[in-house]
Amino acid sequence: MVTIRGATTIERDEKEQIQIAVNELLTHIVRKNDLNVSEIVSIVFSSTSDIHSYYPAKAAREAGFESASLFSAVEPDIEGGLPLCIRAMLFVEKNIDARHVYLRGAKSLRKDLTEKMNIALDGPAGSGKSTVAKALANDYNILYLDTGAMYRACGLRALRDGVDLSCEDSVCAMMEKIDLSIEYRDGKQITLLDGEDVSETIREPNVSMAASTVSKYPCVRVKLVEKQREIAKKMSCVLDGRDIGSYALPDADFKFFLTASSAVRAQRRYDELTQKGFEVDYDALKAEIEARDLQDSTREFAPLKVADGAIVIDTSDMTVEEVIAEIKRKMQEKI
Ligand code: DC
Repeated sequence: MVTIRGATTIERDEKEQIQIAVNELLTHIVRKNDLNVSEIVSIVFSSTSDIHSYYPAKAAREAGFESASLFSAVEPDIEGGLPLCIRAMLFVEKNIDARHVYLRGAKSLRKDLTEKMNIALDGPAGSGKSTVAKALANDYNILYLDTGAMYRACGLRALRDGVDLSCEDSVCAMMEKIDLSIEYRDGKQITLLDGEDVSETIREPNVSMAASTVSKYPCVRVKLVEKQREIAKKMSCVLDGRDIGSYALPDADFKFFLTASSAVRAQRRYDELTQKGFEVDYDALKAEIEARDLQDSTREFAPLKVADGAIVIDTSDMTVEEVIAEIKRKMQEKI
């Protein structure tokens, strides 16, 4: 069972306006969630106390929502509340991620769902960024851009070509020729290097350090940040990385910095990699994470740091669900 919420407003308290608004709201919810009307078990409406002319539940029945049980209630007056507003809560017999719908004046209630927004999620390796970013992207139905994958693809190219990672000129020459692109298939980010899908290969442990090393060169960063800005300009997305809030998107609507102790981060990476079948040593992983932290945070150009205005969350003793809830709470506070 899934609960889907929605709201809309009318201009005047008139029966016809209520009928149109309810029909429009429910039609949007059905379309956006790819529902069959028969899958809706019940709908509860509430309307602000300035609406007297018609029951939203009656309007829903007339609009063809025949099998669901329907109910209308009136909300108490709240000072400063949105006037002439109708809210709906649908209980649906389906296993889906709910897509809530806010129309007309009610858009102002959920700017996070209705306006273009960019969320910057920075932090060191293993701080939980990618898990949290994926969940937020899914919840808000926006794009997830894993910027680390781009640096990893450059690191992989350098390793494959035998480029001397300590030689900035050689890495920059490689960047002139690199054919790197990002695609989305079934909602999943695919990293393509010369047309080859390297999404899995770039996760191999030896690529991590190479990515960190090439990422210190401005010629690498400028090229990749340009791509990130292009994507973020066009659509709502959550980007995870090291410099998203501080350099790539300093005007991001929401900025978070996730961190955790290196022991906890190494354990998370260890679990992740062993689950994927890699044979890894915990102490070596911890040492590598600490070396990367140092390299990423001490580079001259756009280092890993807490951006101005970013909210810092230490995830060491938090579950993923707790981190997501905390981020959403902070976002809602700002809206
Ligand atoms: O997030 P990750 O572990 O996949 O990132 C791999 C490396 O890429 C990281 O050690 C530093 C670099 N990186 C970066 O410099 N800036 C970003 N926005 C993302 C990653």
